[in-house]
Amino acid sequence: MSFKDSIDKDRLPQHIAIIMDGNGRWAKQRGKLRTFGHKHGVKSVRETAESAAELGIKYLTLYAFSTENWNRPRAEVNALMRLLVQTINKEVKTLHDNNIKLMAIGELDSLPAVTRKELNNAIDETAHHNRMSMILALSYSSRWEIANAAKIIAKRVAENEISPEDINQNLFESHLTTNYFPDPELLIRTSGEHRISNFLLWQIAYAELYFSPKLWPDFRKEDLYEAIVDYQNRERRFGKTSEQIIK
Ligand code: IPE
Ligand code: IPE
Ligand code: MG
Repeated sequence: MSFKDSIDKDRLPQHIAIIMDGNGRWAKQRGKLRTFGHKHGVKSVRETAESAAELGIKYLTLYAFSTENWNRPRAEVNALMRLLVQTINKEVKTLHDNNIKLMAIGELDSLPAVTRKELNNAIDETAHHNRMSMILALSYSSRWEIANAAKIIAKRVAENEISPEDINQNLFESHLTTNYFPDPELLIRTSGEHRISNFLLWQIAYAELYFSPKLWPDFRKEDLYEAIVDYQNRERRFGKTSEQIIK
């Protein structure tokens, strides 16, 4: 039996976020360069996006490259940027076939011009799709995003557009790059690491965290279904008592 059969279609998370980790270790286990692992991670992205869209998930955010990842060896960074261009090029068809809109969050200005161009083209070409939004976090880090929001708000105060009293959680949130999306209800990290690595710190305040031991290139549809079943078996209390939730 597939985990898919146990999924309650009426209680799906609207938004799933994934920290796609373990490509380097996957390659190393096979005696290959880290880049080999990144290449094989593309299939996992395709499978995850397809199965999420088929199920009816509305938003899928994938952590593809963090601000801190710029500190990796130059050759790996370059290879990742090239792979990104090639993948976007090749996978636009998958996005069309599955009616998926591509979006991106992060400090996109720091990406190489050719990567940015390819990304923006794919974003424009898929803008009319509406089954699911796939959001790539690129050159993203949550502390960058939060500091950036504070800067924009401070400028608006300085220009008398808003007053300090207007600053509340809703206003702050509307200055984050995730302004257009609901918070993820489910955050998945692969590769057995139990940390967040500067991803969506504000937005996961009440997300359910799911850690898979699988390395990202081994992650398949069934693994996503398993994570969703696990999510659906949890009691989300949001600070209340269990009795308040059940009644
Ligand atoms: C995740 O895999 C991909 C990126 C961070 C770009 P890693 O490259 O971090 O692989 P490990 O964690 O070293 O195995
Ligand atoms: C997090 O993975 C970033 C992405 C998956 C893009 P890392 O491999 O960079 O995280 P750490 O260094 O293990 O925390
Ligand atoms: Mg890693």
